[in-house]
Amino acid sequence: MLPHLFRPIQIGHLTVKNRLMMSAMSINFGVDDHCHVTDQLIAYFVARAKGGAGMMLVGGGSVHPGGQELPDLPQMYEDGCIPALRCMVDQIRPYGVRFGVQLMHGGRQSYLPEKVAPSAIPAPAVVKGEVRALTVGEIRDLVTCFGDAARRCREAGFDFVEIHGAHGYLINQFMSPNANVRTDEYGGSFDNRTRFLFEILADIQAKAGADFPVGIRINGNDYMANGWELTDALTLAPLLESAGAAYLHVSAGVYGSTELTIPSMYTPQGCFVHLAEAVKQVVDIPVITVGRIKDPVHADQIIADGRADMVALGRSFLADPEYPKKARTGRIDEIRPCVGCCLGCIHAVLAKEPGGCVVNPDVGREYLLTSGETAGEPAGSPGRPSVKPSVNPPVRVLVAGAGPAGLAAARECALAGHDVVICEQKDVSGGLLNLASKAPGRGELGDILRFFDRALTRLDIRVRYQTPLTKELLDEVSPDHVVLATGSLPQMPVIKGLFTTSMALVTGVDVMAGTETAGQQVIVLGGGMAGLIVADFLADQGKSVTVLNRKKSFAEQMSANDRYYLRENLKKKDVTLYKQVAIQAVTSDGVIFTCKGEKTTLSGFDTVVISEKYEAVRAAKSLEKTSSARFHLIGDAKSPRHLMYCISEAHELALSL
Ligand SMILES: Cc1cc2nc3c(=O)[nH]c(=O)nc-3n(C[C@H](O)[C@H](O)[C@H](O)COP(=O)(O)O)c2cc1C
Ligand code: SF4
Repeated sequence: MLPHLFRPIQIGHLTVKNRLMMSAMSINFGVDDHCHVTDQLIAYFVARAKGGAGMMLVGGGSVHPGGQELPDLPQMYEDGCIPALRCMVDQIRPYGVRFGVQLMHGGRQSYLPEKVAPSAIPAPAVVKGEVRALTVGEIRDLVTCFGDAARRCREAGFDFVEIHGAHGYLINQFMSPNANVRTDEYGGSFDNRTRFLFEILADIQAKAGADFPVGIRINGNDYMANGWELTDALTLAPLLESAGAAYLHVSAGVYGSTELTIPSMYTPQGCFVHLAEAVKQVVDIPVITVGRIKDPVHADQIIADGRADMVALGRSFLADPEYPKKARTGRIDEIRPCVGCCLGCIHAVLAKEPGGCVVNPDVGREYLLTSGETAGEPAGSPGRPSVKPSVNPPVRVLVAGAGPAGLAAARECALAGHDVVICEQKDVSGGLLNLASKAPGRGELGDILRFFDRALTRLDIRVRYQTPLTKELLDEVSPDHVVLATGSLPQMPVIKGLFTTSMALVTGVDVMAGTETAGQQVIVLGGGMAGLIVADFLADQGKSVTVLNRKKSFAEQMSANDRYYLRENLKKKDVTLYKQVAIQAVTSDGVIFTCKGEKTTLSGFDTVVISEKYEAVRAAKSLEKTSSARFHLIGDAKSPRHLMYCISEAHELALSL
């Protein structure tokens, strides 16, 4: 099974057991007030080490307090950090993973209010604040900070370090002409712009030892005007090899680039492989690729085809720490898939919140778990997931609703050893998520539903379709607990003329479900996530679409990365967007509204699609009085929100029963 992915590889003097690296992720939790590593970060990495990664990197290793990317990242700039790092390494060592630290300085992309950079040019996106150009003396000091940090990593017992020369952080800023307009020896020519990187590499080798493997992450392309490009990477790569780099890790993008470093579900899987492939042509040291490589078969093929020597996964390791183990033992179907939403992970950390994962509520909570699949215990034999017995005696649970919340709750309760029955009023599972996955570019949302379906099948739990929750069902099943995961439905707004218009009046849900069709000239009422997704769905069918959003921002519920691609799609499809509208009336063929104080009348439309607010469906809650069971509301039935809440509430509930 996957013979290329699970073949060992040599990185410097290190033998690595397989070709899967957990890439550096600044996860923004697991450090104390001194930015020293705590048990929380250790348990997070232990789970992934147990899961079988070949190499793992601690993300965001800060070499200088003035270059900290985010507030809660581990520091490497004082010797005081070493004991906690050593404690972490000691706990990882038994699992045979090669464990390293990525060393970085955020430069103008740091979250700090005062930032330094090669030149006083602000980052194009995401962060705000003053940017000051470094003096030559400061640059030389920072070089020594990287070397000192690497020496501390070696003293703590790490196997290697990776220099972060990518993604628009300080080193990459020196390399990219759009961020570096210096006229001294650190700016101008290619040699001058890359001097900082080479000086750092030499200082690390001098202080951590020439035998200490140093990998380098570079951009194959910044995807910015006047930025670092593939031709630059191809010039740099052999020079880094000659200077003693142990591997090259080829990524892409900076804050504000046209292709994002952490792409969402809209982007093709393996979107940056071509960059690593090109670099691999010009060096003999191992080349690592990264970027939406989700499927182990795909990863294996990349190596088989000689396009890269190793595959790095970021978010797939958040979604499922046991990815390598499951892939190696033929249990690919059991891997919990990252759906590429970017919401729980990068969106959270850039908002300075702890990183997490929409599909895996255990991220960051591993230290609280004592057993169970995601805490890293071996999963059950092939075809049979391990059951993690609840601390409480088994109970009988009736789950009403087979949307994501219901499916997640049923799975978690069954894994906890409870007796589970799941009923669904309709004849399909998945709820609104199933519909959302039908929109252009959003098919991967369905992966998580398929994951739940497969898990329930393995647990011998079949959804009872076309079965609403009734008194008769309660009498038949006689549950101790009823989980109401009955979802939500669009709410009709109260607008003058809406119910007397000659236009067809449909909801976004009906349109996506195919139970209603929209005409050619469509107004979508609602610029939230659901509104924009239905607009894209209709525009994809060649319809002319106008979206009216009462709010200031569009699709606030989405991560910035995911929203970026959706907005680009809408632009390409000529969807017209209005925001901050106050709707005065719906006419026979259009709408009258004010937008920023200006009155606008639109006409010539044939359909109004309602996709504004959603209301919880929980009529079945009234059955509580007729039953001795305890009723629990989760997901949209509790309050219509995002998938993240559906899955985490299901998880919490299962743990509490
Ligand atoms: C929460 C989060 C934090 C990240 N932090 C870093 C980082 O500190 N250094 C880095 O080089 N890349 C960082 N990345 C990028 C990942 O290493 C990886 O390149 C990217 O997520 C694409 O790979 P994937 O599609 O497998 O997730 C981060 C990604 C995420 C999701
Ligand atoms: S939050 Fe979304 S994108 Fe991030 S790891 Fe989880 S599923 Fe993947």
